[in-house]
Amino acid sequence: MPTSGEESRSPLHLVRNKWEWRSPFNVLRAKWLEIPYGEERRKTPDLLRLSDEELWRDWQEAWHRDAVSDFAHRGWYYALYGNALRGQRVLDVGSGFGFDGITFARKGARVTFLDIAEPNLAVVRRLCEYQQISGVDFFLLEDMRALSRLQGDYDIIWCSGSMHHAPFEIVHEEAGLLLQHLRPTGRWIELSYPKARWERDGQMPFEKWGDKTDGGAPWAEWYDLDKLFARLAPARFDVVLHFPFHNHDFIWFDLLRNPRLEGLADPVFGPAAATTGGESGSRSNTRP
Ligand SMILES: C[S@@+](CC[C@H](N)C(=O)[O-])C[C@H]1O[C@@H](n2cnc3c(N)ncnc32)[C@H](O)[C@@H]1O
Repeated sequence: MPTSGEESRSPLHLVRNKWEWRSPFNVLRAKWLEIPYGEERRKTPDLLRLSDEELWRDWQEAWHRDAVSDFAHRGWYYALYGNALRGQRVLDVGSGFGFDGITFARKGARVTFLDIAEPNLAVVRRLCEYQQISGVDFFLLEDMRALSRLQGDYDIIWCSGSMHHAPFEIVHEEAGLLLQHLRPTGRWIELSYPKARWERDGQMPFEKWGDKTDGGAPWAEWYDLDKLFARLAPARFDVVLHFPFHNHDFIWFDLLRNPRLEGLADPVFGPAAATTGGESGSRSNTRP
């Protein structure tokens, strides 16, 4: 894992040092009481002061920007997955403003919105109630232990832009707990940042890269297939769809869990085990 460097730091950086990651969700919550809103960011406590009508209008405007005007950002995957997810049980991990979960719930998916920040969930709950969207549920991830209270098995764990915002070891633990709720042949679908974007931005340590990618995020890390496999190990997956998109701003992973591979040694890399993340990237020892 990259270290923070020797130079002097602003008080804000003090909350980001290695020790503070011992309470990872507190570090993350210091930033993520806001949500990406097109090119801007909005604080969810501020959004909660809007009327239902204003909130819904703002949500629709922001959704239109990402899904229609900028079809290459979200529109393509709404077209691809929207109908396919009808009736599926979807866990939207790091649901933010609920663009994805609300889109799929309106198409008939049964969505649980999971977030680390209560006001983020409150905004999505307001939107769902106002639009009378049924089959939705909400889960506050206060800390890792909270995941033992998550009920049932999901068909799809959907992580759009959330799990690359904490060091590998932390999200490896979180992924392991989430995977206890993915059914044996379920899908793990994730939007992350590709290595090409990190290289384009000057190969910064991950704790600095988050400042550039997300305006003050305490961490941003690139992922490729091998690294994601390592994060999900010992669960094993086949690849359904995987490619960088939107000018290499993002990378898409659509993986199908394959229980027949779990517990088997990998023919290329040997026995399954997690590796640590790092500036040069960890390498998985599990492949499809
Ligand atoms: C960049 S926003 C993405 C929001 C939304 N998924 C989207 O596509 O617009 C990141 C969201 O993930 C949440 N988050 C950050 N780290 C997380 C983690 N380790 N586990 C779950 N949620 C997380 C934040 O609270 C925030 O709502």
